[in-house]
Amino acid sequence: MIIGVPKEIKNNENRVALTPAGTQEFVKQGHTVYIQSTAGEGSGFLDEEYIQSGAQILPDIESTYAKAEMIMKVKEPIEQEYSLIRENQLVFTYFHFASYEPLTHAMIKSKSVCLAYETVERPDRSLPLLIPMSEVAGRMSIQEGAKYLEKPLKGRGILLGGVPGVRPAKVLILGAGIVGTNAAKMAAGMGADVTIMDINLQRLRYLDDVMPANVNTFMSNEYNIREMIKVSDLIVGAVLIPGAKAPNLITRDMLKEMRPGTVLVDVAVDQGGCIETCKPTTHEDPTYIIDDVVHYCVANMPGAVPYTSTLALTNATLPYAMQLANKGWVKACQDNRDLALGLNIIKGDVVYEAVAEAFDLQHVPFEKYLGEK
Ligand SMILES: NC(=O)c1ccc[n+]([C@@H]2O[C@H](COP(=O)([O-])OP(=O)(O)OC[C@H]3O[C@@H](n4cnc5c(N)ncnc54)[C@H](O)[C@@H]3O)[C@@H](O)[C@H]2O)c1
Repeated sequence: MIIGVPKEIKNNENRVALTPAGTQEFVKQGHTVYIQSTAGEGSGFLDEEYIQSGAQILPDIESTYAKAEMIMKVKEPIEQEYSLIRENQLVFTYFHFASYEPLTHAMIKSKSVCLAYETVERPDRSLPLLIPMSEVAGRMSIQEGAKYLEKPLKGRGILLGGVPGVRPAKVLILGAGIVGTNAAKMAAGMGADVTIMDINLQRLRYLDDVMPANVNTFMSNEYNIREMIKVSDLIVGAVLIPGAKAPNLITRDMLKEMRPGTVLVDVAVDQGGCIETCKPTTHEDPTYIIDDVVHYCVANMPGAVPYTSTLALTNATLPYAMQLANKGWVKACQDNRDLALGLNIIKGDVVYEAVAEAFDLQHVPFEKYLGEK
């Protein structure tokens, strides 16, 4: 198959959909890889490294789209890419269709095959191509939180791990999923006194078994949250209710009960946030202060560490991309239902129910296409 990797053009997006290592794997299997010049630069991969791995470099985005049977990207196509996508071309990337109607209509019009990273789903309902970014954001939440606890950055001026004779900082994590667990690991490793809360008792039992002694589990409810926020230095919001806006677990009135210089990192901000006073911020201007409480609410945290994020993402996407390249999308999706669930739009038909529902469009089951030869 001919694979094309364009340079991401969304503002501040430095990730790339394929590394030189991934390129080498495709080439070994007999595929052709075209990389748009400088596509990997933001993640630290130079054109020469791709060439050494067997890729051919193309000068611009137009020729990359024009040559490829499968486009591999990171972010959803943006407006200037719409007209470059053609009938029957396979596009494998994050789309998040339900959040942007013009993109949905443009992809319907293109008659391409849109396979979305975010809806590839395992039988246990986990989302293998979203997990890596949650791992990155969870680990980063503590690194950022520790930084903003410093006095010059308006925090309480407390060192996360303390020192001999001085107590460590108290870290409260709301939500014990992928983000929360990775945050807890980092905070515990830095020596903080960590409490992780969830409504899922099974999950808390598991974490109680595997986490170090400086991580305590606590049932999530308003009473317990009110008790904990008074004594916490860093609070991480990491809750998710699939398909719904995150619940406001920390309301505006609660800020007054926190100590001045407390830091809030609301990782769930991309789903509306679980802290009432959190509004999306950017890496250029990540924080603001309300009632002496520092709010960090960057909606694309992994964007700050493109090297790690690109490797984490491509480790997860490559095995699926390889199946698509080796078998073609129809056979690959017939053989692997996880991958078939990633199909969102096929040749003008919306085949993912939630996307059809979001914009009142007709839903055509993807099975219609998997019978094809
Ligand atoms: N800002 C970013 O850059 C970024 C990056 C990656 C993920 N995220 C977001 O982080 C959030 C968490 O993602 P995840 O992968 O950890 O999800 P997850 O599904 O693995 O975990 C969510 C957890 O929240 C728990 N929960 C639900 N209601 C709760 C409540 N009332 N109190 C306490 N816990 C509750 C669930 O039981 C679950 O364990 C999502 O909104 C995701 O979109 C943001």
